[in-house]
Amino acid sequence: MPSIRTSLALLAAASAVAAAPLVISASFKPKPGSSDYFSHYRGTITPYPGYEREPIMATTDGPPGPDDVLFQNLLSAEWAIFSFYQKGVEMFDTESFTEIGFPETTYERIQEIRNNEAGHLVLFRDHISSNSMKPGPCEYQFGFKDAKSFIKVLTLLEIASMAFLTGLVQQAKTNATRGALVAIAETETRHETWALLDLWKVNPFGGPSDTSFPYANQILYTTNQFIVPGSCPKENPSYPYPAQEIPQFTYNAHTSSPLTSGTEVQFVFTTPPPAWEDGREYYAVFFHGLQNVTMPFDTVKNTTTIPDFEVNKGLIVGVIADTPGAPYKESVIAGPVLLIEQPTGAIKMNK
Ligand SMILES: *[C@@H]1O[C@H](CO)[C@@H](O)[C@H](O)[C@H]1NC(C)=O
Ligand SMILES: *[C@@H]1O[C@H](CO)[C@@H](O)[C@H](O)[C@H]1NC(C)=O
Ligand SMILES: *[C@@H]1O[C@H](CO)[C@@H](O)[C@H](O)[C@H]1NC(C)=O
Repeated sequence: MPSIRTSLALLAAASAVAAAPLVISASFKPKPGSSDYFSHYRGTITPYPGYEREPIMATTDGPPGPDDVLFQNLLSAEWAIFSFYQKGVEMFDTESFTEIGFPETTYERIQEIRNNEAGHLVLFRDHISSNSMKPGPCEYQFGFKDAKSFIKVLTLLEIASMAFLTGLVQQAKTNATRGALVAIAETETRHETWALLDLWKVNPFGGPSDTSFPYANQILYTTNQFIVPGSCPKENPSYPYPAQEIPQFTYNAHTSSPLTSGTEVQFVFTTPPPAWEDGREYYAVFFHGLQNVTMPFDTVKNTTTIPDFEVNKGLIVGVIADTPGAPYKESVIAGPVLLIEQPTGAIKMNK
């Protein structure tokens, strides 16, 4: 039965035929993979299933499916990403982007990415068994105020999702989940490649491997900064689950630029820092490609040095750890921070 919100969305859709060329009704439930809706839909009206905002409760009793928690985490993250694009589609139009020198097709592509993300909502919901609930959206604040800062957050979100998917694959219990996650990562990679080529006009290649980061929930935890506190449906599971509630930090953009190999970087805590133990060594561990490199971390100056990776491409993920190599998740005591190498120095993660 459609909720009040859904009915309003349907009414809005019905009265805005030009913006919503495809027929939307309560029985309209296109399937990603066998409907072109998740590519071709155009308009500012929220597409299916973005207007189905209530969490969907479990309909059967029994043990959760093997990857239910993983897909609940991913669905919660996807609600944020989908809402980001939907908000961009509503706020901007073709001219918003052409005015600042981006191509004619930019707004078109942003709608198509928005649709792909709507398709992810369907896919992730479908991957949660009927024994488990499917989280609904919260309210989000992304801190972009104009078309240019929207594109910066877009580039960041796409590369961040590529990185947390490499970690989620490592949590997956079934082969089918692993395949699905790689396929989703490929979609995010296409989005990122488009942004690098068409918008930033840079070489889109990131070297032989993008960055694999094992602790996906730590990246997901950082996305809580986008959630308006207290705005999530009360039925939602805590996000991410499980979470390590560790200190968060960004970097000092004035003293740490450019963010390339061999540069000293100062971390700036955005929440209270770890309780440093006297006489103990702490490390900044940087993940890039398929390797990680450990550097000393100065707990008085909050400084370390970006290791010499030579290839200043793609993404570097930095954490503070109490053990070289951050070999298990509990050894990470703060972070992560995402250092975006393409386009160089343009994009900052934490507030
Ligand atoms: C996953 O794939 C491996 C290799 O093909 C196979 O041995 C294993 O049985 C599969 N696992 C499951 C849970 O299907
Ligand atoms: C290091 O971080 C701590 C915690 O945020 C802060 O109190 C201190 O002033 C910082 N040190 C420097 C040199 O900025
Ligand atoms: C980081 O690299 C070291 C050395 O290769 C390895 O032992 C460690 O497990 C790696 N850390 C992670 C989290 O993969």
